Amino acid sequence: MPATQDALISVIGKATPRVDGALKVSGQAKYASDHHFPGMLYAVPVGSTIASGQIEKLDASAAEKMPGVRAVYHRQNIGKLFRVAMNPDFSSPAPGIIDEQRPPLEDDVIRYYGQYVALVVADTFEQAKAAADAVKVSYAPKDPNVDSALAAEKQPEVESQRGEAEKAFAEAPIKIDQTYVTPVETHNPIELHATVALWDGTSFTLYESTQAVVNHQVVMAQMLGLPKENVRVISRFLGSGFGGKLWPWTHCALAAAAARNLQRPVKLVVSRRMMFQTVGHRPRTQQRVRLGATADGKLTSLQHDYVNHTSILDDYKENCGEATAFQYSVPNLRVTAGLARRNVGTPTSMRGPGAVPGLFATESAMDELAVGLKMDPVELRLLNEPKIDEGLKLPFSSRHLKECFTTGMEKFGWSKRNPEPGSMKRDGLTLGWGMAGCSWIAARFPCQARVDFCDDGTARVCCGTQDIGTGTYTILAQVASEKAGIPVDKVEVVLGDTSLPPGPISGGSMVTASVVPAVIDATGKAIKALLGMATRIPASKFAGQKPDTLAFDNGWVHAKGEKAEGGVTFDALLKQGNFKAASGNGSSKGTFGTPEKPKFSMHSFGAQFVEVTWQPEIARLRVSRVVTVIDAGRIINPLAGRNQIEGAVVMGIGMALFEETAYDPRSGAPINSSLADYIVSTNADVPALEVHFLDYPDLELNELGARGIGEIGLAGVAAALTSAVHHATGIRIRELPVRIEKLLA
Ligand code: MOS
Repeated sequence: MPATQDALISVIGKATPRVDGALKVSGQAKYASDHHFPGMLYAVPVGSTIASGQIEKLDASAAEKMPGVRAVYHRQNIGKLFRVAMNPDFSSPAPGIIDEQRPPLEDDVIRYYGQYVALVVADTFEQAKAAADAVKVSYAPKDPNVDSALAAEKQPEVESQRGEAEKAFAEAPIKIDQTYVTPVETHNPIELHATVALWDGTSFTLYESTQAVVNHQVVMAQMLGLPKENVRVISRFLGSGFGGKLWPWTHCALAAAAARNLQRPVKLVVSRRMMFQTVGHRPRTQQRVRLGATADGKLTSLQHDYVNHTSILDDYKENCGEATAFQYSVPNLRVTAGLARRNVGTPTSMRGPGAVPGLFATESAMDELAVGLKMDPVELRLLNEPKIDEGLKLPFSSRHLKECFTTGMEKFGWSKRNPEPGSMKRDGLTLGWGMAGCSWIAARFPCQARVDFCDDGTARVCCGTQDIGTGTYTILAQVASEKAGIPVDKVEVVLGDTSLPPGPISGGSMVTASVVPAVIDATGKAIKALLGMATRIPASKFAGQKPDTLAFDNGWVHAKGEKAEGGVTFDALLKQGNFKAASGNGSSKGTFGTPEKPKFSMHSFGAQFVEVTWQPEIARLRVSRVVTVIDAGRIINPLAGRNQIEGAVVMGIGMALFEETAYDPRSGAPINSSLADYIVSTNADVPALEVHFLDYPDLELNELGARGIGEIGLAGVAAALTSAVHHATGIRIRELPVRIEKLLA
């Protein structure tokens, strides 16, 4: 039954528990590797044990004879795997992107540790693993280059430039010139990467742990040499991805090729150790930041020159200058980017790619400038607030960064701060207070969606985007519920399947802004279809009337100007006419990567305030408070929104204090490649987190004014935390993570 008029309360903006929560906590939500099929085989890749060199001989004879082994694939027998065109097309929901462009097993050259050299397929996982360990590979090794000191190998690319940055810096009375370093970080979603591949003789069905089913479909179709119609990709649930599952990795093609060769379903789960080698990471960055300012704190020059490492074959750029050109007002600016090749797997997007390490550098430099000026760091930022985006020379669609700072100051109690390092104490502990600003791009990808009103009184929302754990199922149920006047629990949301209308990648924090307008459009069209049907169903009380004399409210079709309950419920109407459903197809346009010149600079903004406690006697550093204020437009679901920011802050504490993938200089292997050795934040490391949202809908982006919130919560944490560490200890940490030994100096 549709809701009554009285029960109709606005659901957009209301804290709404996840509609998929029960499925997850009861173990019924099926992740890629949960799929089992009769006759399914298990694949285990063999990874190279050198990081640079050449395969001399690969001997699979012992492995092939082991129990249960169906095949050992290598370069000579895997069959053809094609290259991906890599002509990213953002006018389509499926841009066609892969980060590691060399198809697996294409040649015998080894360029990183763990590079797949063979694939064993057997009846059980244990048999496949045992046989993979028995594949004998001899190599002609070379010394790997995994050096951590980075220098651009080619002339750095100038990304943004205005005025005369060099000259203004030389003339500035107050200068900061420092280099900041962020280490390799490895994505560690709880769900391992996995593929379950089915081949029916003409077509593939691929169950994938992917943040982008439609991109996965076009990429795999190219690699497997099929029309995309012959590849269906399904990802109903994702145990998170953080960017590591945005684009396909080489194991996906291997699993599919094995399924086709053997005519059997094949499951391949990438081990945690292999995930440190073959499915991307955030690359190491080295960033020189030069700031020039007047004695009263006006920025006169900003130079941001950064280098990140990339793999031997692929040019992955960590876009550290993402926020630099617009965050503050400065007449003279230059941002340059360079790459340094290393024998590592290809890097990829990791939550807040570019802006997160970039803002660590630039916001740290702002804090150093404030110290140099003997000025409050918040005041310095307020003083340098720009009127427009000075990089793009465009007005901001909606920017409330100053209010983020002032609200954060007030919530945190910043006015009580004594700027003298080590001067603040509580309960025998030294306190450190630091802060930073942050931002993240707001844009839309193109999207299609369908809404069906069904004869059982439910509505169904379909879109080929996916919910990567962020709450997309829930917000789409909220939006359809509100627009149709049907309770949230009567809305079914179906995502994560290329057989659905194509939807965007779950990347760049853009899904909400992209999908919501398409669902609103589809809901409106489904209502229009319903009203038209009402006038054509012979038994309907509205038969023969004009559709535009009718209205749809709260689940009732009724005459305009009359009470909704005086009409007919949509399910009753559909039954009268013997219709299963009334459907509407909706779409919305993208704004990202389109040729049209934008009218506005669109970003979310935020401010983060961190308190640390420091006990020099026992060298103990703890984070005791984090206050985050976010200006992300309208928040559709404050519960899921807060959860996103909290998760990002937890990750930010890990970035600042713990996370670093270390490479063995002799073998080139990532050596702390397990969750025992790669340290992430645990509950014991994280205090209660305070999150506040400003509420300024950004109506230039979409009709609800909703921007994204998945990534921004990470963007200010590391700079705020290291500034707090400086305030507590007097020691400035410019290379992450903060290690206790650096504080003992
Ligand atoms: Mo995000 S790093 O765009 O998945």
